Amino acid sequence: MAHEIKRIVSGMRPTGPLHLGHYFGVIENWIALQKEYECYFFVADWHALTSEYTDPEKIKGFTYELALDWFSAGLDPEKSIFFIQSEVKEHAELNLLLSMITPVGWLERNPTYKEVKQELESKKDLNTFGFLGYPVLMSADILMYKASHVPVGEDQLPHLELCREIARRFNYLYGETFPEPQSMVTEAARLPGLDGRKMSKSYGNAIFLKEDFDSVRQKVFSMLTDTNRMRLKDPGDPKNCNLFPYFKIFDPNMDVSEIVDGCKNATRGCTDCKKILFEMIVKFLEPIHKKRKEYEKGTLIMDILHEGSKKARGKAQQTMDEVRKKINLTY
Ligand code: TRP
Ligand code: SF4
Repeated sequence: MAHEIKRIVSGMRPTGPLHLGHYFGVIENWIALQKEYECYFFVADWHALTSEYTDPEKIKGFTYELALDWFSAGLDPEKSIFFIQSEVKEHAELNLLLSMITPVGWLERNPTYKEVKQELESKKDLNTFGFLGYPVLMSADILMYKASHVPVGEDQLPHLELCREIARRFNYLYGETFPEPQSMVTEAARLPGLDGRKMSKSYGNAIFLKEDFDSVRQKVFSMLTDTNRMRLKDPGDPKNCNLFPYFKIFDPNMDVSEIVDGCKNATRGCTDCKKILFEMIVKFLEPIHKKRKEYEKGTLIMDILHEGSKKARGKAQQTMDEVRKKINLTY
């Protein structure tokens, strides 16, 4: 090969609005990748259905919201292809064909499958064919575009390993077709939640990208800081404070030495820090809210997604022609 292909495929399930944790965990990274790679980013609505099949009516709205969050946050629809998984039916066909060669044991042993199933057991019945096959569908998403790299969170690594195994098995059985995609692990949860745990909608410790500033203010001012600082004159330590790491994440060049000193010798109060942080978050969110207003106009978001789905379909049809030939299913 003359030069290495640099192609990214990644998706997100439409399950709710994006928060700052998503931004600093995933979106920031995707924005950077857009510059160097040919990227296919998609809304994994079929994957959302694997666990939300009893209430599917929310998925459509979340799909729109997810794309709106993406573009408001700075992902550029001019640079990459953005599409909806279920708008490219070829994914379902490749999922079917890959499922023929995937041993059930591989799926049952998958640690992410076991963990998620256990975690949601009390709320959802995940003893379905579709949920077991989650990584096969994910493999179809990735292999369809012959991705060289797949940026994912750490929890998705077992799925990606399966994808590589499925690719190898396909190539072995039917001839060299799919490159084995490399994972790119996105640094887990760079930004902690308001209470120090992982930022998550379900923990109620998140600030959303679309959140209005009054609500942001309330959340920031109720953040838990160093619990040794019951009173202003109690010395503290930024090491025990879950607000402190926010400063460097929002502004890597910020000089925090004064804050550290003031905290340790109790010459500054936590309210001072909260005021500064609130201003920083406002400054960060302002352009995002502004872009959001633009993208909310008319049918812009759905136009972009339909256009992207059309382009993705073009590429997917090429792959499927090749795949059908390899399996000798052309008539
Ligand atoms: N399973 C991924 C997640 O929950 C979403 C996803 C679906 C995906 N298909 C993919 C990610 C293909 C990367 C590549 O985060
Ligand atoms: Fe955290 Fe600032 Fe309070 Fe120290 S003064 S505990 S760094 S919020």
